[in-house]
Amino acid sequence: MIESGLHHGDNLAVLASLADGAVDLIYVDPPFATGAARRGAAGSYDDAGDVDAYLAWLRPRLVAMHRVLAAHGSLFVHLDWRVSHHVRVELDRLFGARRFVNEIAWCYSVGGKSPRTFGRKHDTILWYARGDEHRFFPDAVKIPRKAGSHMKLVVGEDGRAVQVKRDRRTGKEYRYPVDAGKIPEDWWIDIETLNRGDRERTGWPTQKPEALLRRIILAASAPGDLVADFFCGSGTTPAVAQALGRRWLAVDASAEAIAITRARLAAASRHPAPAAASHPEAARPRPAAASSRSARLPSR
Ligand SMILES: C[S@@+](CC[C@H](N)C(=O)[O-])C[C@H]1O[C@@H](n2cnc3c(N)ncnc32)[C@H](O)[C@@H]1O
Repeated sequence: MIESGLHHGDNLAVLASLADGAVDLIYVDPPFATGAARRGAAGSYDDAGDVDAYLAWLRPRLVAMHRVLAAHGSLFVHLDWRVSHHVRVELDRLFGARRFVNEIAWCYSVGGKSPRTFGRKHDTILWYARGDEHRFFPDAVKIPRKAGSHMKLVVGEDGRAVQVKRDRRTGKEYRYPVDAGKIPEDWWIDIETLNRGDRERTGWPTQKPEALLRRIILAASAPGDLVADFFCGSGTTPAVAQALGRRWLAVDASAEAIAITRARLAAASRHPAPAAASHPEAARPRPAAASSRSARLPSR
């Protein structure tokens, strides 16, 4: 029975070998049914465009992901305008509509635009919870409060800047210390797509930024949890999970993607990234068993 590590092959087979409820957090970034092979400097993968065939292919994988999620677990599915609405219907059926947590719009500006439409510059990340009590650690992902909002800015007795709002109907006053930050909205405009020259670029097409995975993993898992990505591509999810002290399980059908992921994880083990100081939870000590297991690279 598989428990963690890097696996080359069809994710359906790997999913079949996992125990029920084994995984705490799943993030997947499957092909988007773009209708064209995705090519990058370091490899390529197919991405056929027939929606019915795509859904028939994805459905059993989603069913298996639902099965392997822990009762407190979450599934994040990363898609775009082509199929996100179809997959949301599938996930409502599978998880139940009341398990829907968020539809996150990840907004960026890099890349080509058509003169015939507004720029299609966001991806959609669907978040579903397996049960009634899903893990969420908002303090780990707070972002700065925006200056110049509609709220009055005052200086509190302790010298801290505070945004103040009064509810006209109830007269109740709400006070938000600026330096306490805020929970991000469900539209994320502060994480850009990777540029050609970005240091984390591996050459794999459709590689996602580590900052995006950092927010998802910090928000929806605890240190030592098992984080799985069944379409791992260049290994963004396991690389971030490892840096944050989570155990991880990563799968890809492409040998090139597996080689990139293995090299990336090995490099990260040699030069571990410093803990993200802005995340209080990331600074907590890591459970010894979890960090040593996640750093091990299986041979498959
Ligand atoms: C959009 S890419 C993932 C990119 C990744 N998030 C990253 O940051 O590099 C989708 C990946 O799914 C993989 N894939 C497609 N079908 C698969 C299958 N049946 N089992 C496992 N992986 C598959 C492709 O090889 C490709 O690497």
